[in-house]
Amino acid sequence: MLKIGVLVSGGGTNLQAIIDSIESNYIKNAEIAVVVSSNPNAYALERAKNHNIEGVTIRKKDFSDVSLYEQALIDCFKERNVELIVMAGFMVVIGEKFIDAFRNRIMNVHPSLIPAFCGDGFYGLRVHEAALKRGVKLTGATVHFVNEITDGGPIILQKAVEVMEDDTPEVLQKRVMQEAEWIIYPEAVKLFAEGRLSVVDDKVIIRR
Ligand code: GAR
Repeated sequence: MLKIGVLVSGGGTNLQAIIDSIESNYIKNAEIAVVVSSNPNAYALERAKNHNIEGVTIRKKDFSDVSLYEQALIDCFKERNVELIVMAGFMVVIGEKFIDAFRNRIMNVHPSLIPAFCGDGFYGLRVHEAALKRGVKLTGATVHFVNEITDGGPIILQKAVEVMEDDTPEVLQKRVMQEAEWIIYPEAVKLFAEGRLSVVDDKVIIRR
């Protein structure tokens, strides 16, 4: 049984999509061992509670330096034998120590087609504001492994979503979630749980 640890900061709709996919048996042989939030008031913690999943808050500001913060995250996951970390709307940029401890075992979802509208400063609604400002006709979502470069790790899955002329950032965000994120994130976790992902030369190979 693959043990998954989920990192959240907010609403947790991607967490919910993964919980639902495990409960419906779309993702087999996997369970969420713990949900770790950077914010004690995140609704994602309620979602965990509703499904009898342990929820923990670990805040960067409670540690005197980044290395201690990352060690606390590492310890939390290692104590629970977590083998896959899923960042689901986690708004903290994570450093080398944590990444090294779980190399090619940390996934993130980003609400654009990487390499567009990504990197430092591009998160949440800001990504959709930038897409609308640029006037792209297609946007989407990307699931990738996390490395030291913000949104720069090996790409696992992507899905395109149409942009409409009267979209607001909020409307576009919702469509990208519904039509892309909530579909490709569970799919990527399923592929990982089935041992079908490998990374070669910084690219993901999917065994079909
Ligand atoms: C999602 O749209 C996710 O792609 C984005 O934050 C939202 C979280 O929603 N993540 C980033 O922008 C990361 N750079 P959720 O809490 O409902 O899953």
